[in-house]
This record gives sequence, structure tokens and C-alpha cells, in this order.
Amino acid sequence: MKSTLETGLPEPDADSARHSLRVAEHLRQRIGTGSISFAEFMQEALYAPGLGYYVAGNRKFGVDGDFVTAPEISDLFGFVVATQLSPVLQSIKGGIVLELGAGSGALAVSILRRLAELDTLPERYHILEISPELRQRQDDRFTAELPELCERIEWIAEIPTSFSGVVVANEVADAIPVERFRIDNDNVMQARVSVQDERFAWVYEPAPAFLTDAVRKIEADLGSQLPHGYVSEVSTGLRTWIKDVCAAIDRGLLLISDYGVSRREYYAPERNDGWLRCHFRNRAHNDPLIWPGIQDLTAWVDFSLVASMAAEGGMTVTGFDSQANFLMHGGLAMVMVDFSELPIERQVELSSHIKLLTLPGEMGENFKFLGLCRQVDGPPVFEVTDRAHLL
Ligand SMILES: C[S@@+](CC[C@H](N)C(=O)[O-])C[C@H]1O[C@@H](n2cnc3c(N)ncnc32)[C@H](O)[C@@H]1O
Repeated sequence: MKSTLETGLPEPDADSARHSLRVAEHLRQRIGTGSISFAEFMQEALYAPGLGYYVAGNRKFGVDGDFVTAPEISDLFGFVVATQLSPVLQSIKGGIVLELGAGSGALAVSILRRLAELDTLPERYHILEISPELRQRQDDRFTAELPELCERIEWIAEIPTSFSGVVVANEVADAIPVERFRIDNDNVMQARVSVQDERFAWVYEPAPAFLTDAVRKIEADLGSQLPHGYVSEVSTGLRTWIKDVCAAIDRGLLLISDYGVSRREYYAPERNDGWLRCHFRNRAHNDPLIWPGIQDLTAWVDFSLVASMAAEGGMTVTGFDSQANFLMHGGLAMVMVDFSELPIERQVELSSHIKLLTLPGEMGENFKFLGLCRQVDGPPVFEVTDRAHLL
């Protein structure tokens, strides 16, 4: 493992460093004398039972953690999301809300509060959370912050077979393990991880057929071959995930929000080192092989892939736009109506939250919303602005 002197990252505390050594040992055992695909490395580093980043007890969210998500920055995010979900729920009459990957529970709290204000609470708010540790944190938070609504909330172990309602997934798609590849002349090589001198190291081997096929499909969509030396990612896990979620929705909306771009931007010639990002103590960097189990690993989302998988599953794209547009046209204006009446401290707080959520250099442009529908009208905001033509 590299030392922090080499990486310029802050030093982990002693407990975290010890935990990372255990995760590294687990990975070394899986690797043995050979190598594992990067997708397997990412899966284990994030989700190995009792060890992975999302499963073990490290802090993760917030200013003292490794990253801050939009619902953690401000309840304005959930306020607007719920404002947009409300008419969809009304039209379904009796649909559930299903949140995938609820993190600290911040989004559920703000969505449920706003739906209560709008008198469109669902009978059930289901959460599918693969981390037992986060599930406990969510439960504690709801008991403390939403005692009157707790009984509507239910954790489920897998995606239900069929239901009507709305599904939200904020920053979950980017936490699904990806394959990494490199083009060597015209060959597709799979990025794998081996152990060299006690450290994790990249090795490239001829890609298995599923990965070569996925890269050839991307090239066919782009209408050109990726150049020699080009490195990027493909999320084969995301394909399955979207397929399963879409298959489960009889009638309703799937709203995915995440860091991501269209396929053309994802595989642009200048984007030749991919979209992997690692988060450690609120610093972002590009080395996923260090500090396994105590840093978050993410890969931006190819939203065209999501849209095409949903179309294969019979769902329709109802809209695709930046977070800035979604929030500004989707309900932020309502909060601003009586802005000048608010105490000055709240005005300052709201202004700083709005900047973080909407400025292009913050989350405003890089973060997107994609709406996918079956037999319902989508959220009204996409009638105002929509960039679905880019997908
Ligand atoms: C980056 S966090 C985002 C949390 C929250 N949605 C937010 O915006 O603050 C990713 C969350 O997705 C969960 N997760 C990852 N893969 C998942 C999957 N396949 N199904 C359900 N949850 C998943 C993680 O345990 C974690 O709660």
C-alpha cells in the first residue's frame, strides 16, 4: 500500500488504518498469486461482509466523513424531489415509494416531511439498503426525527417482484462496481488487480467476451473506434441493476440522480482515463488501490446506458437534466418566496446550500436527474427543461 506521503492524502487514524489492513489481507487472499478483475476488487473493497467500506462502521457521510451527498448538504434537495414525486404518486393512487441505498436516511426524512405537507404520503416507504450498518443508522435517525411516520417505513431485502409507485436512487448507481478496460492497438484489455511487493498493482489481460462485447457496442454507438491507450470503465453491474428495477415497476416512475453524463461525453476522446473517483476524508483522488475499505470508490454514470436498459425493459425516458435545472425549476422558487422574511441566519444558510447544490463548479452541472416512466406522466419539472436528446 502507498504511504500517505506519496499520495498527499491525510493520515487515517489508527483504527481506520488497522481496518484497512484487514480489508487488504482479505483482498490479498482472493487475489492469491494471480489477479482479480477491478470490478471484483471494487465489490470486495466496498461490500465484503463485515469488512467493506459501506458495510463496516466507518463514518462515510458528512464533513467529518469522506463525502457529502446533496440530501446531506440540505433538505432543499429532498424538498424538491418530493415536490416532483407528489403528482406522480397522486396519479398512481396508492403507490409506494421505494428508496434504493438510503445512506444516512437524510433523503427519506426530507421526502417524507414534504409529502406529508403536500398530503400525498404513501402508505409504505420501502428502503432497500444492502449495508446492515447503514440500515441501523437509518432506523435510529427515523426514530429520532420522524417518530410520527416511522411505521410507514419498511426495509426490504430485495427488489419486489411487481409494484406501482416511485423509486428513487440518489448516488447509488455510482457505487455499483465497474469494469475498467484499456484499448491496446485494436484489442480490449481488462484491468485487473494483482499484488506486487505487498502492494496492489494494475495488470492488463485480454478481456473476457462480455467486456469486449460491451466495448464494441460502445464503439458502434459512437460510430468510431476508441484509440490505442484509451482507458475507461463499463458498468456491467449497473445494466443488471436497472433491468431488475425496471422489471419490477408495473406502473410508476424511477428517478435516478447521480454524477454522470451521456455516452458521447463519457467516451469522448479527451476523457481517456475514465471516470473513477475515490473519496477519503472529503478529498477526491484517482487511486482506487490504496486504503481499501476506508475510502469510497465511485464511477460516474453513463446515463445513455441507463436509458437504453430502461427502454429495453419497456420504460420511457421522461426527462434528463442537470441538478441545477431540476432544483431551480422543480420547487426551489417556492422556498424563496418568503426568503426576505426569514431570520438572517437562515437566509445565509439557505444561500450557501443553494450555491453548493446549483453552481456549475459545485454539484449543479455534473450531477444529473434521469426520469423513467411506465404508464404515468413524469415529474412536471421535465416539461420546463429537458436534455433527454443528449442520451
Ligand atoms: C453514496 S451512498 C448514497 C446514500 C444516499 N442515497 C444519499 O444520497 O445520501 C450509496 C448508498 O447505496 C447503498 N447501495 C449500494 N449498492 C446498493 C444496491 N445494489 N442496492 C441498494 N443499496 C445499495 C450503499 O450502502 C449506500 O447506502
